[in-house]
Amino acid sequence: MHPPRRSLYVTGTDTGVGKTVASAALLHRLRAAGLRAVGMKPVASGCERTVDGWRNDDALRLQAASDPRPAYDDINPYALEAATAPQLAARAMGVRVDLAPLLDAHARLAAQCDVVIVEGVGGWAAPLGDGFDQCELPRALALPAVLVVGLRLGCLSHARLTARAIAADGIGFLGWIGSSVDPDFVERDAYVELLRDALPAPCLGVLPYAASPDPRAMAQCLSLPPGF
Ligand SMILES: Nc1ncnc2c1ncn2[C@@H]1O[C@H](COP(=O)(O)OP(=O)(O)OP(=O)(O)O)[C@@H](O)[C@H]1O
Ligand SMILES: [Mg+2]
Repeated sequence: MHPPRRSLYVTGTDTGVGKTVASAALLHRLRAAGLRAVGMKPVASGCERTVDGWRNDDALRLQAASDPRPAYDDINPYALEAATAPQLAARAMGVRVDLAPLLDAHARLAAQCDVVIVEGVGGWAAPLGDGFDQCELPRALALPAVLVVGLRLGCLSHARLTARAIAADGIGFLGWIGSSVDPDFVERDAYVELLRDALPAPCLGVLPYAASPDPRAMAQCLSLPPGF
């Protein structure tokens, strides 16, 4: 078994901008390049109780896009019931979100693949838990960030602010992905050009709008991140 080439931390300009769709598409893109790629949603709020335990839709989508398919509990160590900020969801369950279990789960995933795609929560400055800033996880794992930009009015400021914050937090910025979440955004292409000029990392692709996004098809719109 050879060591993982690299892992990536996928963040977004906000919640609901397409991080999961883009992460699943990245997994398929990496797999198409012959890499064993698995997803991870370390902290997920918004879970359903099943016979197997709490399950989150993002984590299940990442698991479905992964090859090999790791155990759910390693993909999503913290499955929190309420669909709200992780801090609130964790408090409601009497859970404390800590770094160590996340590092252990990531190590188990990394041991069985070449690349782990780690999807964050919300936007970059959303904490993972009480006293637990999101940047601590990619910092501890030495992961560079990929920023998913939800292409809609206001995204230029959100994207630039996020890029600055990533740099200020000492995290590498590997690239960004445009996510066409708004079918009525007629200036989308012009914004993509503005973002290309404004952001200090390459665009890995622009995912088109799709009524039912198919990550395998979306993968064809992505280039491999630099270094892969
Ligand atoms: N390219 C696309 N075309 C159309 N709809 C999309 C696209 N990408 C994402 N969506 C839709 O936008 C919504 C949010 O996408 P997604 O769940 O990937 O966002 P997210 O950033 O991962 O959200 P969260 O912060 O909850 O993790 C979903 O309903 C998804 O189907
Ligand atoms: Mg998501």
